[in-house]
Amino acid sequence: MAEGLKPLYSPEEIRSTIGRLAGEIRADYASRTPILVGVLKGAFVFLADLIRALEMPVEVDFIRLSSYGTRDVPTPKAVITKDIELSVEGRDVLVVEDIIDRGTTIEAVMDHLEGKNPATLRLCTLLLKEGGGTGRKIDYIGKEIGDGFVVGYGMDYKERYRELRALYTIDTKDGGD
Ligand code: IMP
Ligand code: MG
Repeated sequence: MAEGLKPLYSPEEIRSTIGRLAGEIRADYASRTPILVGVLKGAFVFLADLIRALEMPVEVDFIRLSSYGTRDVPTPKAVITKDIELSVEGRDVLVVEDIIDRGTTIEAVMDHLEGKNPATLRLCTLLLKEGGGTGRKIDYIGKEIGDGFVVGYGMDYKERYRELRALYTIDTKDGGD
């Protein structure tokens, strides 16, 4: 473990959280084949484990955004830099995000996908930060966490630590953006 990282959730805790989420999702989408849209890059590890825990047919696509600004900038803009490639019109779409903090990123994703006329559009996040959130309903929440900056399990600080199997908080001077 690198210096300055504090354990948040172990691989076992992550696995059991994903097992619970998969059960909820499986029950809600019984006999349907949703399109799971992962938000790059952070959600790719979570999405990979989630689809295998689901044990039901799904399709997978990805979207990517770049957000400009930092926590010091109150109204950052999230711009789509890579769109999904599947057609979602009339389909059940489940957006899969790693972490929701201010909600800016996920609101841009949901607004954008809503414009493509899916039959249903739901949201799943592994982590929701305290004091964060969005006006959007979050249908599936893995863990609600404190305000620290989180790394590991796909999540980065300046592109580092994505490969770690557990989740950690890291001391950052600038809030991590
Ligand atoms: P939001 O727009 O403030 O909700 O931030 C959402 C995006 O910022 C997420 O998709 C993450 O990629 C990234 N992010 C926010 N908080 C953290 C964190 O604590 N660790 C790593 N990435 C984060
Ligand atoms: Mg993300």
